[in-house]
Formats: sequence, C-alpha cells, structure tokens
Amino acid sequence: MHIVVASLLLLASLVALAPLVSSTHTFDDKVSQMAQYDANSLMTFSADGAYAINRTALADLLDANAVGSLFNSPSSGSGTAVPPLRWWQEYQDLIFHESSTRGSKIPILFGLDSVHGANYIYNATLFPQQIGMAATFRMQNAWNAGRVAAIETRAAGIPWLFSPILGIAVQPTWARVYETFGEDPLLASIMGRAIISGIQSPAPKEMNLPNGTQMAAACMKHFVGYTNLRTGHDRTPVWIPNNVLLQYFVPPFEAGVDAGVLSVMENYIELNGRPVVASKLVLQSLLRDYLKFKGLLVTDYNEMMNLVDFHHAASTYEDAVYQSINLTSIDMSMISDPVSFPLFVNLVKSNVDKGRISTQRVEESFGRVMALKKTLGLLDGQSPVPRNTTGCIFACDQHRLAAMTAAQESITLLKNDNSVLPLSAVSGVNIAVIGQACDSVPLMAGGWTVHWQGTSNRSQFPYGSTIFEELTAQMRTAGANVTYSEGCNVTEQSICDATSLTNAVAAAAVADYVILCVGERHYAEKPGDIDDLTLPGEQLVMVRAVAAVNANVVLVLVEGRPRLLEEVPSLVKAVVHAYLPGPYGGTAVVNVLLGRYNPQGRLPLTYPKTINNAPIQYWRKYSANTGGDYVVQWPFGHGLSYTTFSYGQLAVEQTAAYRFNVSVVVTNVGEYFGSHSILVYATQLARRITPEVQRLVGFGRVEALAPSASATVNIAISDPALLSYVDEYNCEQLEGGEVTFTVGAQSVVIATVDLPSPRCFAPKP
Ligand code: BGC
Repeated sequence: MHIVVASLLLLASLVALAPLVSSTHTFDDKVSQMAQYDANSLMTFSADGAYAINRTALADLLDANAVGSLFNSPSSGSGTAVPPLRWWQEYQDLIFHESSTRGSKIPILFGLDSVHGANYIYNATLFPQQIGMAATFRMQNAWNAGRVAAIETRAAGIPWLFSPILGIAVQPTWARVYETFGEDPLLASIMGRAIISGIQSPAPKEMNLPNGTQMAAACMKHFVGYTNLRTGHDRTPVWIPNNVLLQYFVPPFEAGVDAGVLSVMENYIELNGRPVVASKLVLQSLLRDYLKFKGLLVTDYNEMMNLVDFHHAASTYEDAVYQSINLTSIDMSMISDPVSFPLFVNLVKSNVDKGRISTQRVEESFGRVMALKKTLGLLDGQSPVPRNTTGCIFACDQHRLAAMTAAQESITLLKNDNSVLPLSAVSGVNIAVIGQACDSVPLMAGGWTVHWQGTSNRSQFPYGSTIFEELTAQMRTAGANVTYSEGCNVTEQSICDATSLTNAVAAAAVADYVILCVGERHYAEKPGDIDDLTLPGEQLVMVRAVAAVNANVVLVLVEGRPRLLEEVPSLVKAVVHAYLPGPYGGTAVVNVLLGRYNPQGRLPLTYPKTINNAPIQYWRKYSANTGGDYVVQWPFGHGLSYTTFSYGQLAVEQTAAYRFNVSVVVTNVGEYFGSHSILVYATQLARRITPEVQRLVGFGRVEALAPSASATVNIAISDPALLSYVDEYNCEQLEGGEVTFTVGAQSVVIATVDLPSPRCFAPKP
C-alpha cells in the first residue's frame, strides 16, 4: 500500500542535514524558486489505487534546477483514498531530503489546500466550510479552525496553507460561495483576520519545532474581485468599478494584510477586461503600493499559461511570462506540470536574456520566496516534519471539540412555526427521516474533502455521524421510532425514482414528524457551475409530496449556496440551515432538533427568493427597493433561537471623530439558555455616493445567557472606514451628516461632520 520507498524510512534519521543554503546562489537557482508545480505530475498510481512519488522525476526536476515549490494531494482529483499522516510525513521527508541535496539545494516549500481542516489527510479534523463558520459570528471559531488546520497540516510536514478565501459572496449561483465567509465585507474581514491569526499562531510546544520557527503560513485568496462573476459561472469575466472594488471587495484583504498574512494568491478572472495575473493595477498598485503587502504572491493554477490559452491576452507563453512578471509583483507561478507549461524557468530566463525582465525583478521575488522559506524554518537544515511530538497534534480530542463546537454554533434556525422544534422525545413517537443528506457524512462535508470535488465514500470518514444515525441513537432510549428513506438521490442529479418517492411519502404519511434533508451534491469550482439556482432535480417535488401528507415537516438544508425554494418554506413547519457542517453535522443538527442545543447561527448571506434579486446583497442601495422590488426569502443576519432576547435602551456615543461605542443591555426573557450575536448596522440617509440601506458596522455577543439574566454588550466601532465611501475618483470620503445606528428595532441618530479624504487610490499607469 502506498509505499513511497522502503528506504524512505531511513530518512527519519537523515533529517538533520548540514546547513544547506550557501549565501550565494546562481541566477538559475533564483529563477527556479519562482516555479511551483502540482506534485501530482510526480506521482505514480498503482492498480490498487495507491500512490508513490516518482523519485526519478523529482530528481530530474531538481537537477534541472526547475522548481522552488510543490503543492497538492495525490487524492485531489482521483478516486484513490486520501493519504494518512504517516504517508505524508514520509513524502515530505523525501522531498526535503532530495531538494536539500540536489540542484540549487534550496528546500522545497510545499503547499496544500487545507481549507476546512487538513482535508487531504486521512482522519484529520474537519470544520464546517467557511460559510458555516461565518454563520457562527464568532471569531474564536475562525481562529480555532485556522489553528487546528495549521497544526494538523504541519504535523504532516507541510507549512503552507492555501487558506482562507476572503472574497465576499455576491453571486449566489457561484460554485465557491461555500468557501467564503458570506456577503458582508466586515464579517469577512473579522473572520478572515481571526483565521489568519490562527493559521499563523505559534506552534504548540509539543510539536517540538526549533525555537523561532513559524509553524505555518496562510495564503489569503483570491486577490481580488473573483466573486462577482457576471454569469455566476466560475472563472468568467468580472466587471467592478475601482471605487466599488475598493469599498466592498478590498477590505477583507486589507484586514488580512493587517493581520500579517504571509502570502497571497491572485485569481482566475479577467477584471474589467484585464486578466488579474497580468494586472499591474491589481498586483502592484493595489496590493503592494496601496495595501503595502510585503509577503509572497503566488498565481492561481496555470494562470500565466492561461494568458495565452484561456484569456487571449498574450500570443506566446514567453509574452505571458513577461506580462505577468514584469508588470506585476508575482513571485511564484503555480503550474500543473513542467511539461504543459514548457519549462517556466526557461521562459523567465529568455525574457531576461532579451532584456524584457530585469535581473533585479527576479532578485526581488527570489528574496520574498526565500524570506518565507526562512520564516517557516525550511532553511535550518531540518525537515519540516515535526519530530518526537507529544500531546495534541493530530486528530486529538481538543481539535475535535473545536470542530464540533463550530459545527454546533453554525446551525441556523430559519423558521419554527408553532414552536414545532425542539421535538420532544416521547415514547412511541414516529419520526420519518427522509433525504440522502440526512444519512450521509460526505454530503455534509462538501467539496475540498478527501478529493477536490468531495467524495461519496463514507469509509474515508473515520469519525462523525449522520442525522439519521444520531437521531436513532438519541431517541432510542426514549422509545421513539425512527425510520429512514432516501427520497431523491442528491449525488445522482437529485433524481427521485418512483419507488423511492413512494416509499418516502408512505413513511411521511404515518409519521408524527418528518425530518427532510434537501440540498446539493458535493462539488468545487468550475465543475460546480449551475444554470438554475432552484433546488436541484426533483427535490421540490419530493418536499411538496411529503408536505401534502404530513403537517409537521422540518426541512434541513445541506447546501453550499442558497438554492431557491419557491413556495416550499410555507409548506413546512420549520427550516434548519446546516450549510456544509462537516462530519459533526449529524450531531450538531440533531442537538438542535431535540433542544439539546439552542441554535444561535445567523445567515451570513441573504437567502434569495427570486432569481432577479439573487445577486443583490443586504447592503443594497435604496433604489434597489423601487416598487417593492427587493424580495428575499430570509435576510442577512436572520436566525432564530428557542429563547427570546430583548434589547434594553440602545446607547451610541461618539468617542472621537467617526469612532463610536454602541451599548445595549440584552436580556434573555425566554426559557432556554442561549448565546446570541448582536448586529449593529449604520446608514446615512443621504450622501453623494448613494448610501446603502444597511451596512453592518459591528457585532457583539452574549454567551450562554441564562433565562432572566441580562448582560451589557459594548461594541466599539473604531474604524472610520466603516462609515466612509469611496468616490468615483477612488478617494475614500467621510461625508458629514446624520448617521443612523440600528440594533434590532431601535435606532439612534448621530451627527457627523465632513473630514478630509483620508486617502486616494491613485495608481500610476
Ligand atoms: C483554486 C485555488 C487552489 C488551487 C490549488 C485552484 O483551482 O482556485 O483556490 O488553492 O487550485 O489547488
């Protein structure tokens, strides 16, 4: 099984090599550091599905001085099993050893898409996808997710995580909505800052890394504007005026720079007609000059090559390399394999020979690549695989608890008529569980799990449980009867064959309650493109048929983007949104269904009702409301609780110009303990660049408030940019006037004055 090479085992003893990097490097050494290849091009797959690295291919690559970085999991695209930790460690030891002793002798920096935990390592701790993390409105969850992902990825010897995504979700049909923190720039900024700080937090001492070694680097992606696809299809053109870009799309990335993010990935799209990979405006003026990002900038997959083959912005690969390196500040080119993009390093060198790219430009990127390698301890002569670790490093209780907590806190109760939830566990009660996602851990995990596209293979999840399993286990002692029928097969285009549908309806007809899961198959990126946002396949037919025979249907949504539900919410008693909660989704949802946990999640994006309004966020303009046009299924921030929180008198104090303290007393006037996020919105009634109807400017929390208890919540709004706009000349403006702060049903109006423009984005052509 997946034996790298038996001799690899010897490597553990070879890991401490003599200092590897001399102070001088040849120009070729330097250029090679700018190339990053998909390591799958170096893999061999055996008939039983096991993988091994092709040592000869790796050696040839290194001897030819052609690579500075590798990335990806052999399981990403294929049907094989996901490699266990031990395999990864051997593999990373080998790569370290070979790269330290061949060619430039500069150790390779390996990167992995650990986007919701170390999702390419067997038995790693998996968190909800980012969209669910955002629904918790709790920074601690994002920090935990970042830290655990980084620890478990570094446990495998990999110090670079291609995470987080900081684009805001503005196009609900897009297949990558679930990878984002939702539609709000502030929420994405706060969660983004937290996850980056978690990824880049100090290594636990039990990991035994040499003193001063940074455990891992985050890579915020995809800079910038990727999310606003005109068609909603992945990688299609985007138009965003610069001032709109600066106002809504740039802030989460700016927060990432403030958090000290060590690397950035650009994106696949053409923005306003210019492919981002070759955009001086985006990757030099905006990222480096305006945001002052100093770290490593990597391209997305094959993007330089795409300048010729996909974007039609260059007619030769040599010119593509010229445009993207000379015009931007890219340090590393992510490439599928050295053959498909005829040795990138030669293309850089031929440009240098022709005087089109300066040696200075190469030096600059080489410096940034080496700086990151140094920070991550790769230049210390020691394999990045931690040795003699103890304590909680991989798949341990503390990590699992953090993932379980995040899953639990993400669950969002959208509707609960007549308080049908929580269900009472009484003897003899009949519960019909219907829908494939109700009995599938893989569907709850989504894409970027085991494989790039996700998997249907339950055996790849050694822990976790389904909603059906949990409900059965938890209700058994109460003497309840729980049955399961699949209904529609979500994995197979959501087709309900006649027998499955008949069985599901028959089960519903005799049940006291129905738990009905609907949603999406697993997917990622382009393969997840859709042409219709409506709940896929025949699932709506199934819900209607089930609701026709049972008055107590609880709908559970397991989906990565908000699929249109037509009239269905009015046919059911309750709706629970689970997003893609990961392996703990079963426990998390059932705890909510049974009232063992009081739900506290809030929607991190608007749940649309009609297709026309789907791409309109809650931070819409007043004119978007014309003639009652703005109709949604559930608004941003919506989320019910089993208890009731009442707000006392809202107080807003201006502590300095454009800095405020918002305070409110929150009382639990219901009967359940509960946690709750308090959202503060602000708006100006009139200003030169039209105001948003609402704009989230801060949020605070009460944790586990007991019935009848009160807590004072103070929320500092200390960033004036939250109240500024960016005008059509790309200058940030603080325009005086009345600002209305709103919390719940209360509003307070505060007078503000004009302040001089703090800054303008004025790129040089
Ligand atoms: C995705 C990135 C990812 C990269 C490497 C690309 O297709 O857009 O998010 O990090 O692949 O796997």
